[in-house]
Order: sequence, then structure tokens, then C-alpha cells
Amino acid sequence: MASEAKLKELLAQMTLDEKIGQLVQTNGIFFLKDDSELTGPATELELDLDYRKNIGSLLNFKNAENAIKIQKKHIEDDRNGIPMIFANDIIHGCRTIFPIPLALGASFEPDLVEECCRMAAKEAAADGVHLTFSPMVDLSRDARWGRVMEGFGEDAYYTGVMAAAQIRGYKGKGLSSKESIATCAKHFAAYGAGEGGRDYNAAELSEHALREYFLPAYKACVDAGVDMIMPSFNSVCGVPATANKYLLCDILRDEWGFDGVVNSDYSAVKELITHGVAKDYKDCARLAFDAQCDIDMISPCYAGYLKQLIEEGVFSEEQLDRSVMRVLKLKNDLGLFENPYHGADPALVAKLELCDEHREIARRAAEESAVLLKNNGVLPFSKDVKKVVLLGPFATTYSILSWWSSRGDKTKATTVYAGVKELLKDAEVIALDVCTRDYNDEDESNIAEAVELARNADVAILCVGESGRYSGEANSRTDIRLSKVQRTLVREVTAVQKNSAMLLFGGRPLVITEENEYVPAILEMYLPGHEGGSAAARLLFGDVSPSGKVSMSFPRSVGQCPVYYNRTQTNRPPRAQYLDVPSPHNFTSAYLDCGTSPLFTFGYGLSYTTFRYDSMTLDKTKMTKEDTIKVSVTLTNTGNVGAKEVVQLYLHDLVASTAKPVQEFKAFKKIYLEPGETKTVELEINEPMLKLWTPKGEFISEPGEFTVSVGYADHFHFTERFELID
Ligand code: BGC
Repeated sequence: MASEAKLKELLAQMTLDEKIGQLVQTNGIFFLKDDSELTGPATELELDLDYRKNIGSLLNFKNAENAIKIQKKHIEDDRNGIPMIFANDIIHGCRTIFPIPLALGASFEPDLVEECCRMAAKEAAADGVHLTFSPMVDLSRDARWGRVMEGFGEDAYYTGVMAAAQIRGYKGKGLSSKESIATCAKHFAAYGAGEGGRDYNAAELSEHALREYFLPAYKACVDAGVDMIMPSFNSVCGVPATANKYLLCDILRDEWGFDGVVNSDYSAVKELITHGVAKDYKDCARLAFDAQCDIDMISPCYAGYLKQLIEEGVFSEEQLDRSVMRVLKLKNDLGLFENPYHGADPALVAKLELCDEHREIARRAAEESAVLLKNNGVLPFSKDVKKVVLLGPFATTYSILSWWSSRGDKTKATTVYAGVKELLKDAEVIALDVCTRDYNDEDESNIAEAVELARNADVAILCVGESGRYSGEANSRTDIRLSKVQRTLVREVTAVQKNSAMLLFGGRPLVITEENEYVPAILEMYLPGHEGGSAAARLLFGDVSPSGKVSMSFPRSVGQCPVYYNRTQTNRPPRAQYLDVPSPHNFTSAYLDCGTSPLFTFGYGLSYTTFRYDSMTLDKTKMTKEDTIKVSVTLTNTGNVGAKEVVQLYLHDLVASTAKPVQEFKAFKKIYLEPGETKTVELEINEPMLKLWTPKGEFISEPGEFTVSVGYADHFHFTERFELID
């Protein structure tokens, strides 16, 4: 690896244009043109093809062959021979697709997430990728927002834990390893707080909300050694994140000490014009660069105007050098100067893609991520059934991967039909693709046939939900129920077949309040990836017990959004008996026509067994700031099958200088218990967990009483008090 002195030497020999080129990021397509005329997205940069030799990084290229070809030519063309960084959105797998992050959020298994990302890194590195634009850690409280699928849900601490696991997985033994890729935490900051759940929308939120809820997960990424930060598209408190000096300089650089690369989002620098804060491209470059946004992704601003701004003295060459050095350092950490192709190896891709080991990881991840939302006892179905019908738009479809899986071959997904067929070799398995996956589907023509099939079968599995096309970027929706036709299907089938279960697919918590009334069992699969079908079959027929817990609450109705478990205390809280049902007019902070709690809240999820929580003990009830309290929780599997349980710990500050949430999730452990087995889990309370953001602008812990509880949000088995003393 080159020393810092060597990098400085390199920098010293670069011209202004060459330096600025390192801060320009283009699309792969820009390099695939063979010196002919530019068309399509390649024109967006307003650059001529000769500029290619200066460019520092690119995204959206196809595969390893592509990467090798482009890099080879680039090194020949660039007088300094500086390799480019090849970036891509590896969000939940590269070739082998595992469940979406929101689903992994339900697993409460950071080790599994790390394993998934390790697998993704191996495949991606072999496929020519050096850097992924992941993890996405935007706190998601509003299910209308399509991008909730990319993150871990509504809790800041938990999102940070899971994102750190992703970073560990991607980076593996270190960036220079051919099996590792660099990471980029996004979208900084509060992208999930866009008003009305509308994508790209302005986030108007207080310093208190930022500090307590929206910022901690990005900070956790910085602490975990993330290599890059991507500012969000939206404005935060009036200032677009791409040009937000408070966020990017004061907090990220100065307070948190991040000295890695800041890489704008797609054309976000030039979109400062449409935000209405810049008058032209030059102004855009000035604002973004002033906020220390190092790289301009797909926009003409840096390439076209940064030089002028330096020549005019608006920025010094030292400022430019600082940004270029960050990029060169990252290249150096990736080992690109020695090996510009990093791990690119087409033959290895073919070996790794969907190999048995990777399929197995994907299946396990899909199993751990599924959440049993309801079960009146029908599940698990017996494997002795003679006739099974699968009904609905997800019965035979391969489309269970998601929006963000461009390198995954969806035709190689195991469908629910294939999964059930494989598991039940002797049963008759019939699938009928009732309804489309369109949310505005109106075709009810084969519902009657579906009902007849269900009536004459032993069990009916309703494979319904929201298409992966309707979550992800630019996919906000206001009606997040099942489509009308799917609702009819579910109602009519369950009316004739009591052995029915609903398998629910989609990238967001859908509103299923109506179905929850009458469907005997509901198993949430989210978008489970390549092995979704085999996982679903094994879960439905009892090979494995569901163990996932909701990490983003399910609203009872869109009118509740945003809705989340850690609501702030109010002067007139809803009465406990009206959390789940409409409240009468009683001057409390409740709804007259709907419960205040979510339908399925954070931490909730059923199992095929039952767990008895026997005790919770604290090794002390008073602690100083230096102390920790050990919390021992004993539980027993009182059912008939082995299963996993997530032991969850929540804290509450009884009297504080700010209004605190009614409960805050602070620690957890997922364990496996055989039938009849008893285990004791130890969790720890320490002083940083007790901190709050004060109106004076600091994180402190305040002496006083707290409660500690185990269970899940609003449903605790035990609650004890302890005190923080000076
Ligand atoms: C998204 C980012 C993504 C980038 C590059 C943007 O539209 O907001 O999350 O990393 O595109 O694909």
C-alpha cells in the first residue's frame, strides 16, 4: 500500500483538471461508448468523451468483464494511471439475493446480517464492485414512504447495531482484501422524515428529534468505520442536505471526526437549483463543495465549474487537495494502486452466484426474517396434507427480490410454489395466480375459481401483498392496503376454508387491519430474496418456527402515520385500555376512531412455541456513571417445538429535563431454546444508554430513577426500578 507521503507526491504532480476529475462520478455507460457520440444518460454530464481520462469513480456498470475492460483502458488513458472506484448499490445481495434490509431488521440477528453482507461482498468484489452504497440507515416511521424497505425500521439504536453488522460484513478482513468492498452510509440525514411520507420531500424537524432519533444511526456507522457518507436528497430544516454545512461540516466532520469521502446522491448537486437555493450549476458547485461534499455524482457542476471557483479564489487549492486526498486514500485502502481490478473475476462470479452455500445463507436469512403476525392455531400446517392450494399474485412469481437487486437473476428465485412442492413430495400442490401485483388491479375474473379450489383443498395459502415495484425509491403511496381484488380474494377464500394462512409479501408494513380480523394466520415474508419460497414452505409446514419480530410497526390505518413504538410522553396520554381500540372523547392524546398503538408494534412476533419469562433480576439497583447494571432474564420454552426468542430490554427515564419516550429499546439477544429448556440471558445497562439531548445542546445523563422492562413495546413481563446516582 502506498504511504501517505507517496499519495501526496502523486497529488503534487496532478493538474487542476486531474484533481477535479477525482471528484467527478459518472455512470458506467459513459465509458462503454467507443469514442462515438454520446447519447442517453451519458449526456447528463455535459462532458466530452476525452474527459473520461480524469474521472475518479463510476457507478452502474454491468459486471466484472465490464469493470476490467473499463479500468484497463482508463489506466492507459490517465497520464497518472490512477484507477477508478467502481461503485454499485449492493443493497441486499449481489448475485444471490437475501431478504431486504427491512426484513433482516425483523431477524434481530446482527451476526446473520454480517454473514449475508460478507456473502454479498464476496460476490460483489468478484463482480467488479469496489464500493457499495450501503448501509441505508434512515429512520423509518412512515410506511407511506417507499424507501422504508432499505433500512432497519423505526429504532435509532437498533438501526445502528444492524448497520454496524453490515459494515463489518462488507469490509471483512479489510478493504484491500479481494473479498471486501467499501461502504457508504446514506442518506445523511433524516431522509426518512420527509413530510407526508413523500419521497424527496422536505424534512422539518427539531434539533431534539435529529439528535435523539434521526442522527444516531449515522453516527453508529461512523463509529463502525464506514468509508463514505452520502448526503440525502431532501432539505433538512430548510437547507438541502447536499449543501448543509451544519450537517456535513459541523456535525459529521467536526463533531464526529469523519474524514472519509462524502459522495453526493444521484445528480443531487445540480438539483440544488430545483431546491431553489442555487441559481446555476456554478452556484451548485459552490454550495456543495463549501459543505465539503467531496464527490459530485452524475451532475455537470464540479466537472464544469469547480476549476473556475478555484481560479477565482472562492476555494483554495488546499481545499481541493483535501477532498482529492480523501478519494485517493480510499483508493489506496482498497489496494487499487497495486491491483486496480480489486477482486474482479468473472469465473469466480459464476462459481459463487447462487452456489449451495449462498442459497443456504439466503434461505436461513429469509426464515429468520419472517414474522408470524397472527395464528389461531392453524399453523404450522401438517405435512400429511393431501391437497394444498396456493392462491394469489405471489404464488408462482419469481418477483420476490425487490427493486434493489439489479444483479440478481430473478428467474432463479425459488417461488412459493416450488418451495412447497419440494417440501411436500407426496401432496397435490396447485397454484393459481389470482389477481395481478398491481395495486390498482381490478380484475376479479378468477376469484370464483380460487374459492372453489380452496373449498376442495386441505389447506389454502394466500400469497398476497405489494409488488416489489411499489416500494423503494420514488414509490410513496397513501393507500397501503392490499389491492381491492386481493382483499376480496382473502375474504372469500377464508370464508370457505378455515385452514387458510396469508403469506404477506412487500417492502413496507402494509395496512392489514381488515384481514387481521378474520384470516386464521398471517406470516409476513417482506421481500425475501432468492430463497423466499423454500423459507416460506419450511415455516408454513413447521420445519422451522418463525422467530422474527417487527422492527417497523404496522399502522392500523394510514391516518396513524407516522406511528412508532417510542412515542413521546404527553400531558394527557391515551388511557391504557384505549391503546388498541378507539378512545371515547376523554381529553387524551388518542383517536376517536382508531387505537393509538400500531396494529403490530415494534418487537412483536409470534412463534410455534410459547415462552414463559420466569424472572428478571438486577445485580444492583443503584449505579454511578461508571457502573453497569447486569440484568438477568430467565425464560423457559414451555411448548413442544424448539424455537428462537428475542429477549428485549427497554428503559424509561421517570423524570427528565425533556419529555422522554414512554419506552426505549436498548439491548437484546436472540436465543434458541429446546422444548422445556430454561436459559438465563444477561443484558447490560450502562450510562450512555441513559443519555438524553438537552435543550442546552448536549448529550448528558441525569441522575434519577429509571425503569427497566423486558418483553416487547407496551407489553412487558417485568418492570423494575433503578437509580442513577452522582
Ligand atoms: C439513490 C441512492 C443510490 C443512488 C445510486 C439514488 O437515486 O437515492 O440511494 O445510492 O441513486 O444508485
